[in-house]
Amino acid sequence: MYLRKDLLGLEELTAEEITHILDLAASLKEINERPIKKVPTLRGKTVIHLFYEPSTRTRMSFDIAAKRLSADTYAISTTTSSIVKGETFLDTVKNLEAMRPDIFVIRHPVSGVPHRIASVTKAGVINAGDGMHEHPTQALLDMFTIRSHKGFLKDLNVLIVGDILHSRVARSNIWGLTKMGARVTLCGPSTLVPREFEGIPGVRICQNLDDAISYADVIMVLRLQRERQDQNFITTLREYSVMFGLSLKRLERAKEDVLIMHPGPMNRGVEIDPEVADGPYSVILDQVTNGVAVRMAVLYILAQRSVGEE
Ligand code: CP
Repeated sequence: MYLRKDLLGLEELTAEEITHILDLAASLKEINERPIKKVPTLRGKTVIHLFYEPSTRTRMSFDIAAKRLSADTYAISTTTSSIVKGETFLDTVKNLEAMRPDIFVIRHPVSGVPHRIASVTKAGVINAGDGMHEHPTQALLDMFTIRSHKGFLKDLNVLIVGDILHSRVARSNIWGLTKMGARVTLCGPSTLVPREFEGIPGVRICQNLDDAISYADVIMVLRLQRERQDQNFITTLREYSVMFGLSLKRLERAKEDVLIMHPGPMNRGVEIDPEVADGPYSVILDQVTNGVAVRMAVLYILAQRSVGEE
C-alpha cells in the first residue's frame, strides 16, 4: 500500500510502496492503448503544474496522465504570472492552495523545494524533479520499463553512465533499484561520479566503461548537465564522447539482450550515438510511453487519499 500524502523521493519509499505503484501502473497502462483514452476516475479533481525549469516529457506526461483520468489540470507560467513581480514561490503556492487544488506537481531548480511545499499544503505534492536531488517518477517509469522487458528487477545489473553528480534521475534510480534488489554500477569521469553512494549496498563505482558494459543487463545513459556545471568537469566534449559515449562499437561487448535507456533530452553524438539511440536494444521511447501510465498511477494514489479524507 501507499498511504503517503506526497511523492517526494524514492529514498524514503519502501520496496512494497514502489511495487504497489508499478503494479497499479501496469493495470492502468491499457487505458492508453484504447481508441478513447479517458476514464472518469479523477473527475472533479484539480491538478496544478508548477514547472520552474524547462521540461518536455515530464510536464506533458503528467498533463496527459491527469486528463486521461479526467482530472482538471492547470499550469502556471513563470513568465506571465505574478512571479515576475517578485512573488515568492511560497506565497504563490499559498494563493493557489486557497483555490483548493488536490495535487501540485512541482519541478524546481532548488533541491528540497517540493518537500518544503509539502509541509505547508494540504494538497498532495509530487516532485517532478528538484535540483540535483531526486526525480522519483522518472525512476519509477525506468523501473517499470525494465520490469516490462525483463520480467523482474531483482539481481539485474544496471549500469548508469555519465554525469551522475548532477543527475536527479541517477539518484532516484539508485535508491529505487537497490531497494528492489538490483545491482547498480556507476561509471563516468571521476569528477562527475560522487563518492556519496560508495557505502550503499548494491552500488559500485567503475572507471572502465568497456568492462562494465560486458556484464550489464541495462545501460542507462545520462546527458551532461552543462546548465548545472559551474566549473569544467570534463576537458572536451570530444574526449568525453570517446571515453564515455555509448557507440555501436562499444556495444559489441554487451549482452545480446541488453536494454539501452536514456531519460532525455539526449545529446546525440555526445553521450550516445544516434545508431544506438535508435537501434534494436533501445527502449528510450518505451520509457516515454510508460511514463504516462506510471504518472496515472501516482496521481490516482494521491488523489484517492484526498478522497478518503473528505
Ligand atoms: N526526463 C525528463 O525529465 O525530461 P524533461 O526534462 O523533458 O521533463
